[in-house]
Amino acid sequence: MTCVLAWAVLAGSIGSGFQHGYNTGVLNAPQKVIETWMNETWHMKDSELTVIWSTTTSIMCIGGIIGGALTSLLSNWFGRRKTLIFNSFVAIGAGTIMGGSKYVNQPWMLILGRLIIGINAGLNAGVGPMYLSEISPMELRGAIGSMYQLVITISILVAQAVSINKVLGTETLWPILLFLVLIPAGYQILGMLTSPESLKYLLETNEDEKALSESVRLFGEEQGPINLDLIKNEIEDSRLLPKVTMRDMIHVAKYRRPLIIMCLLMGAQQLSGINAVIYYSTHIFKTADLSEENAQIATVGVGLVNVITTIFSVFLVEMVGRKPLLIIGFAGMTFDLSLLLVCLYYVESIAILAYAAVVLVYLFIILFAIGAGSIPWIMGSELFATAARPLALSVAVPANWFFNFVVGLIFLPLQKILGPAVFLIFIVSQAFATVYFHIKIPETKNRPIDEITALFE
Ligand SMILES: *[C@@H]1O[C@H](CO)[C@@H](O)[C@H](O)[C@H]1NC(C)=O
Repeated sequence: MTCVLAWAVLAGSIGSGFQHGYNTGVLNAPQKVIETWMNETWHMKDSELTVIWSTTTSIMCIGGIIGGALTSLLSNWFGRRKTLIFNSFVAIGAGTIMGGSKYVNQPWMLILGRLIIGINAGLNAGVGPMYLSEISPMELRGAIGSMYQLVITISILVAQAVSINKVLGTETLWPILLFLVLIPAGYQILGMLTSPESLKYLLETNEDEKALSESVRLFGEEQGPINLDLIKNEIEDSRLLPKVTMRDMIHVAKYRRPLIIMCLLMGAQQLSGINAVIYYSTHIFKTADLSEENAQIATVGVGLVNVITTIFSVFLVEMVGRKPLLIIGFAGMTFDLSLLLVCLYYVESIAILAYAAVVLVYLFIILFAIGAGSIPWIMGSELFATAARPLALSVAVPANWFFNFVVGLIFLPLQKILGPAVFLIFIVSQAFATVYFHIKIPETKNRPIDEITALFE
């Protein structure tokens, strides 16, 4: 690990992952103060306000789909570095619009800013990990790849911690929460200007000399040329792979079946209700009769549990295998949310159940992080032959954003109508996921892809 490599990995992962995680978590605790401000301008009925707030939160996912769709175009055109730099300016624009909305009293600017920061997150989620994997030496790729996910969970925690009303989540200070995205954006610009470009991109655009000098910068005099040759070989190998088209994906059983499973995995991951918790846990805790302040503190706990379990799960996946973790995760979440539902029903007569609800939410986060959180991404790509992976991902990523959007949009309005029974939607879909995946998914760990493909045929 050279200094240049460490610098580039930090800039690539923190610069991109931070925006993605921070903006996912930042509107959770200050929901009430910002809602009040929106209502002062737009004078809405409660039901309208709920819909507007759900839209403000979840429209980020629509931006995510747009950003994801721009990933390959921009990163092949401008290169990974320039795309990430450009993307930081997108974040600066979004942060300015979101934070500025309060000073000119225009709630629609907050919604527009959320859409733009979503585009930023979608691009970051595509280009950030791509850049990281293309500058890391083969033996460090797995570890550096998991940096992005780790940064996301840490920045969700940061967002939840700074947005409680003891810190910045107050009537006057909340715009600062949104201006804060300018700091990682500035860091990413600085970091990317001083970091090497992806070697794969340089080779693909025939800038061999530049690739060699950048490789020497990244890996040192000795390892530089060796690593560059390895990357050249990889590019050669990938040229020899058969081309897989969208048509094949739909018509050939060995691609279609895993593609359906992969999309269902993404749907099940989001319909677990994880983002209802990440976006609205403060609100959920208040439903369980916690005070505003305690609910916000419990929400910071959600972020903390998430970080710890995510680190732990990286090791767990290698030890236990994918399928058992996935099934245990879904079955556990079904059970956990059923208990939470009971708690929320009886909390008014038995006060202690409020604390049981907090424990159940934490347990839910743990069960999610060890199973449904990471396994769909790992396993999903292991179900496909190398040649089909990028195309499969190009379907799975927007599918994931889409389900995320749906859950974020409908959770609060449905909760208004159904009360705690809204959790039944998550419970039923998880029970279904447990059974379906138990029957339909093969274990992929340490199994050659030919064997897996043969199963699907
Ligand atoms: C929003 O404003 C309307 C009209 O000014 C008011 O009736 C309503 O109670 C407000 N809602 C909230 C949640 O503050």
